[in-house]
Amino acid sequence: MRKLITGMKVSLDGKIEGAEGMADWVQAWSEDYGLMPQLDACVLGAGMYPGYERYWTAIRNEPDKPAWITGSAPTPAEIDWARFVARTPHYVLSSTLASAEWPNTRFVRGLGEIADLKKQPGKDIYLIGGARTAASLINAGLVDELRLLVYPLIAGTGKALFATADRRRGLELCETRQLPDGRVSLIYAIDTTAGASG
Ligand SMILES: NC(=O)c1ccc[n+]([C@@H]2O[C@H](COP(=O)([O-])OP(=O)(O)OC[C@H]3O[C@@H](n4cnc5c(N)ncnc54)[C@H](OP(=O)(O)O)[C@@H]3O)[C@@H](O)[C@H]2O)c1
Repeated sequence: MRKLITGMKVSLDGKIEGAEGMADWVQAWSEDYGLMPQLDACVLGAGMYPGYERYWTAIRNEPDKPAWITGSAPTPAEIDWARFVARTPHYVLSSTLASAEWPNTRFVRGLGEIADLKKQPGKDIYLIGGARTAASLINAGLVDELRLLVYPLIAGTGKALFATADRRRGLELCETRQLPDGRVSLIYAIDTTAGASG
C-alpha cells in the first residue's frame, strides 16, 4: 500500500502558522523533506488550496519575481517544486470548492476517498496540509509518516498542528538531523491502529 506522508515546518511549540496567519519563520515553501523522488500524488485541504495554487503558478510562470508569501526570489528548490506540482495529481479535500485552475486537481469529498487512493498502485502520497486537514487525516489513522522541520522559536499564538488531535498515538522515531540555522529534521512513523498508545 502507498504511504501517506505529511511534512510540516513547525515552531518548537508546534505551531504551523503564526499570529498573523502566516508561518513567517519559513523562508521558502519548497518540499524540504527529501520526499519528491518517492511521490506521485499530493493531498491538501480546501483552506490552503487557493493560495497554494496561486503561489506555485506564480513561481512557475515568473521564477525571477519575488514570491508573494515570502517576498523573496524563489529558491532553486521552490522552482523544482513548481515544476513538480504542474505534472502531479493533486487531491483537495473539500465540501465547498468545485473548480480549480490546474487541470491535474481533483476534489475529494470524504476520507474514504483518501483511503481508496492509498490502495491504488503508485508511489507515495504527500499530505501538504493545512492544520485541520493534517489533523483529521492523522485522527482517522490514514497518515503513515510525519516529517517535521522544527524551527528554533516559540511562536506563541497561532494555529497548532495537533490542536485537535483526538487520541493518543505512538510514534516511532526513524531519523533526526540537525540542519543549518538551528532547525531540526525529525521523521516519525505513526502508529495508525485505532486507539493506539505509545
Ligand atoms: N507550516 C507548514 O509547514 C504549513 C504547511 C501547510 C499549510 N500550512 C498553513 O495551514 C493553513 C491552512 O490550514 P487550515 O487548517 O486553515 O486549512 P486546511 O487544512 O488547508 O483546509 C481545511 C478545509 O479542508 C476541508 N477538509 C479538511 N478535512 C476534511 C475532511 N476530513 N473531509 C472533508 N473536507 C475536509 C474543509 O473544507 P470545506 O469547508 O470546503 O469542506 C476544511 O474547511 C495555511 O495558513 C497554511 O499556511 C502550514
